[in-house]
Amino acid sequence: MERNLNAPLVHTTVLLDEAVDAWLAGAPAGDGGASGCFVDATFGRGGHSRLGLSRMAADARLIAYDKDAEAVAEASRIADARFSIRHQGFAALGELPPGSVAGVLMDLGVSSPQIDNPARGFSFRYDGPLDMRMDTSRGQSVADWLATAETQQIAEVIRDYGEERFAVQVAKAIVARRQERGPVSTTAELAELVAGAVKTREPGQNPATRTFQALRIFINAELEELQQALSASLSVLQPGGRLAVISFHSLEDRIVKQFITEHSKEIYDRRAPFAAPKPMRLKALGRIKPSEAEVAANPRARSAILRVAERTEVPA
Ligand SMILES: C[S@@+](CC[C@H](N)C(=O)[O-])C[C@H]1O[C@@H](n2cnc3c(N)ncnc32)[C@H](O)[C@@H]1O
Repeated sequence: MERNLNAPLVHTTVLLDEAVDAWLAGAPAGDGGASGCFVDATFGRGGHSRLGLSRMAADARLIAYDKDAEAVAEASRIADARFSIRHQGFAALGELPPGSVAGVLMDLGVSSPQIDNPARGFSFRYDGPLDMRMDTSRGQSVADWLATAETQQIAEVIRDYGEERFAVQVAKAIVARRQERGPVSTTAELAELVAGAVKTREPGQNPATRTFQALRIFINAELEELQQALSASLSVLQPGGRLAVISFHSLEDRIVKQFITEHSKEIYDRRAPFAAPKPMRLKALGRIKPSEAEVAANPRARSAILRVAERTEVPA
């Protein structure tokens, strides 16, 4: 499919009000709004950050992160002394002082400007170089990785991160093509190979959906960084501070849900049954899904789930 290159690349923020409400709700009230230091771990195009800033106090601080240089360039247009952006993976939020943050927001995955820009190679809908890195200044592109990876490694990635039944067939097709005609280098070539290897069709879904999702998650180490950032948020959140995470597929949501569940109870060490349990560190506050109206207006919101938890007071 050809993209209209004159159309601007925009991102429609998902669960805008719901996520910002949850993110700021644990902070004390200050002059003009919520007071304290807040983290937007996934700036994107700044929908949540901008609304958040409009509801924060004059003495608040907002520290945003994004791995994507284009997102960082967009962020640097925000002229607000309370705001700063860091071109880093969000696991770096763990470098903030312990107990210093009133709210951490994560809106996971990729933004529409990333998906809709053929040059970034995220989508099977447009032809472009097979890259898929959020941070193009470091790491390997998908094309580079597929040029040398073993069949079994490729199959494992596509199975584990794409839950693709035909992962082995897709991996074999990629390696066979590499041996016959050289490595796959474009999104269209990969989409065509996958379509030939995936034998059953899921209604309303392109056969390449699962493979593209898997390669993107793998090349950006998305699930590992999510785990690290969740643990880091436990250490930086102050008592009463909020953790609000929007996920877009079951692999992410499972990690967020398990993390919140695990820390929402006292942990007993089975090897030391008489030792005092580790106190609970989070209180789960529930989950929110987009309304029908939001999904109708923005189909990319359809799989979104916002989970919210509050950092509890840890007894001394
Ligand atoms: C869904 S978009 C966020 C959209 C944003 N909330 C808005 O309203 O514009 C996700 C953004 O997070 C960034 N991102 C994803 N994983 C990241 C990570 N591990 N570290 C830093 N940024 C990440 C992506 O580059 C992308 O710009």
